[in-house]
Amino acid sequence: MKKAWWKEAVVYQIYPRSFADSNGDGIGDLRGIIEHLDYLENLGVDVIWLSPVYASPNADNGYDISDYYAIMEDFGNMDDFDELLQKAHEHHLKIVMDLVANHTSDEHQWFINSKKSKDNPYHDYYIWKDQPNNWGSVFGGSAWQYDENLNQYYLHNFAIKQPDLNWENPKVREGIYKMMKWWCDKGIDGFRMDVISMISKDQSFPDGPVPEGSEYGDGTPYVVDGPRIHEFLQEMNHEVLSKYDLFTVGEAPGIPVDRALKYVDGDRHELEMLFTFDHVSLDGGEYGKWSDKRTDLVDLKKTLMKWIKACEKNAWNSLYLDNHDQPRAVSRFGDDREEYREMSAKCLALTLHMMRGTPYVYQGEELGMTNYQFTSIDECRDIEEINTYKDLVDDRHIYTGEQMLRYISSKGRDNARTPMQWNDHDQAGFSSGTPWINVNPNYKTINAAAQVDDENSIYNFYKELIKLRHTYDVIVYGDMELLEPDSHELFAFTRTLGDQTLTVLANWTDHEVTHNIPVSGQILIANDEELIPHKLKPYQAIALISNK
Ligand code: NOJ
Repeated sequence: MKKAWWKEAVVYQIYPRSFADSNGDGIGDLRGIIEHLDYLENLGVDVIWLSPVYASPNADNGYDISDYYAIMEDFGNMDDFDELLQKAHEHHLKIVMDLVANHTSDEHQWFINSKKSKDNPYHDYYIWKDQPNNWGSVFGGSAWQYDENLNQYYLHNFAIKQPDLNWENPKVREGIYKMMKWWCDKGIDGFRMDVISMISKDQSFPDGPVPEGSEYGDGTPYVVDGPRIHEFLQEMNHEVLSKYDLFTVGEAPGIPVDRALKYVDGDRHELEMLFTFDHVSLDGGEYGKWSDKRTDLVDLKKTLMKWIKACEKNAWNSLYLDNHDQPRAVSRFGDDREEYREMSAKCLALTLHMMRGTPYVYQGEELGMTNYQFTSIDECRDIEEINTYKDLVDDRHIYTGEQMLRYISSKGRDNARTPMQWNDHDQAGFSSGTPWINVNPNYKTINAAAQVDDENSIYNFYKELIKLRHTYDVIVYGDMELLEPDSHELFAFTRTLGDQTLTVLANWTDHEVTHNIPVSGQILIANDEELIPHKLKPYQAIALISNK
């Protein structure tokens, strides 16, 4: 396996709106990030992935960009960005930008021109039809919006305010590549590419199959992994990516593993790695992700392994348990009850960080931040939660409000978006004003100030895991094999490189577990070092290393 810096890196994701507010307006900002670079350098991560910071009317918290060349006013200005980039580099932290190129905001100048008239040179920058097909949007309702002036419909796979760009138009592609180069020339270190698997659409725009219980057709088969996707990515690579030493990760919902490999095959010159979704799609309900079901551990292990194995030969994989679109890992896969939270957060961390691939830490995960208990839809800020509540509770009466709030508290995106918990002062030290979304009341005990200097904290456990990855090649490049794959309690595996073997044993339950795995070697890291033969205590996790 060819070595590369991005294979050896650990990435930390910042959701700027919720990270740190420096000016008291209740919204996180770039200066807030600058003020916490020491914290990140101390943690030892290599890369910061910044969720979008561009100008945006915030229909989808910045994933609706109105100007790719400007910074969102809430977050500061371009001078702040330049300072952040420079200071991050001084702190040995690379900056990866979020590239949202499947769609723009409807307030982007391209769209404003596009809807002026059918013969406007920008009309074809977006996807207009005289008649819509039956596709539904990811955020609810039809994926087509009628425009009276043109008497046409435009496609928006996400919110109405997020029209899809027409990648068939070479001018659109040129415009995107030009913008990417502009950021690269500034010195950024890479891109996380938002729903990049959706940029090429089947040009016949057929109706999609209508899932049971839905009013709309599923456009996925015609939108995801479309006919020209690899041509576009290779062009992007040729025009932009190949000219710089960049980190790239493409968000790729809905692609089976054999087809996904084409995006990241080491010889195809497209992307370095993907974010895949199979492992975070195992606990949904009848209406998408909305449920309070738990993920079955056997399913989770098999799903993760499928991707890891597929990437073993000549591709690379990303590793994540949460991000700004997912609930908090410790609540979802671990145990956020006070007596187990710390052990189980460390157990999840050890398991993930000993796997093969590039690990991502989502802000607050390193503190064991938990889901929020939403008791009213008025507390929710996420367009997906708000639209779904309206659809499933108010309009179709499928769930009661109470049920839906339970599902939101279990799977909703706002769980990840409550403010970062810096200390036990007002608003968790996130802001001196009123935060745009409520702080989780558990900030009095779960916060950074309480953990940074405590050598047994979750934060310092992550720090140790990151250091180990930077020290042992076997953690980065070793082959991975599951042990006891059918156990619903144990997540165990080996990693092997040359003469070295790493053995990982993790009990993902709240009770003692027995096993038959022979254990030898020296403990590299553990959340409880007491080794009892053939037994693991609740949430106990251990990694051992041995040489042949
Ligand atoms: C994926 C992003 O991660 C999510 O936050 C956003 O809502 C959609 N793409 C649309 O941009």
